[in-house]
Amino acid sequence: ASYDMGGHDTYMHKEISEQPDAVDRVLRGRIDDRFSTVHLGGLNLDPREARGIRRVKILGCGTSYHAGLIGAGLIEGMARIPADAEPASEFRYRNPVVDPDTLYIAVSQSGETYDVLAAVQELKRKGARVLGVVNVVGSAIAREADGGVYVHAGPEVCVVSTKCFTNTVVAFALLAVHLGRIRDLSVTDGKRIIEGLRKLPAQIQEILEGEEDIKKLAAEYAEAKSMMFIGRVRGYPVALEASLKLKEISYIHAEAYPASELKHGPLALIEPSLPTVAIVPDDDLLEKNRAALEEIKARSGRILAVAHREQEKADHTIVVPKNEDELDPILMGIPLQLLAYHTALAMGRDIDKPRNLAKSVTVE
Ligand code: AGP
Repeated sequence: ASYDMGGHDTYMHKEISEQPDAVDRVLRGRIDDRFSTVHLGGLNLDPREARGIRRVKILGCGTSYHAGLIGAGLIEGMARIPADAEPASEFRYRNPVVDPDTLYIAVSQSGETYDVLAAVQELKRKGARVLGVVNVVGSAIAREADGGVYVHAGPEVCVVSTKCFTNTVVAFALLAVHLGRIRDLSVTDGKRIIEGLRKLPAQIQEILEGEEDIKKLAAEYAEAKSMMFIGRVRGYPVALEASLKLKEISYIHAEAYPASELKHGPLALIEPSLPTVAIVPDDDLLEKNRAALEEIKARSGRILAVAHREQEKADHTIVVPKNEDELDPILMGIPLQLLAYHTALAMGRDIDKPRNLAKSVTVE
């Protein structure tokens, strides 16, 4: 496909910049202020069925899997249904127990990823109920699913996913409010999340306006041979996604760890030449995350924090606007898209077409 780059040098940059509008689109027409809930027309799930769900299992690959991890946290937190995410590529080869009271959700930008499609087909053959959280309308996974939520990110051309990741997480937040309001989420909490969702486009815009500062940071970190990304609970999938983005377009080795796991091994790697990017939201885990920064500093590790206020243990902090705790991961990933972008640009990489990768993996 070829679309106008609209004055941007790469599709990736264009797609990162489109996020305020894209998020606006996924929200549009779905919020019901009267009942502080969300309507999702294509879900095909009536309230009684929604109450009968005992578990949620989310399946996707790569970036879509990472969005699914955040989605699982949102659904478990707001609807109080046990939820988890797994790479579809692993799920389909391990002869999983398919349970009639589990809601399966397949996540895919393209809607054509073979591993995801094969998992959906296997689930359907076994009588499971499968929803899709998909970007491309009418794609194979969308057609195969019993219903679902379109992500409305618009066409994504760059091989690496950015705006679709953000929109997919927002779509999961909408689904979590919808399921939550049928089950355990109070009117007040429903309203609180809805108000938070409405703030996202302007807050994303604010982050994008800090691009010049992020570009300067990227120039410093582009010399690293390897980078560590850490986050805790909600922040961990953000770390995973940011490390994938950096690997894909800069070819710098990066790994993501839960901050809590550092002391169980990876702390051995920390020294001045291995910088750490730390996700440090102002939530109930702030003190725990600060303790992790101290552990790294004590080993002379360099730290770039993404936080809601300056972190004194960090060498640099990217300060992002605060939203509701549940929605913070959406905003904290965005400066790290720009960090990966400017790192790769400084290294002269072919950003829209990284080596060895295809936009959608339609083969096994
Ligand atoms: C994203 O940057 C990647 N190129 C890749 O991980 C991608 O997310 C994955 O292949 C899944 O694609 P899909 O969302 O189209 O199913």
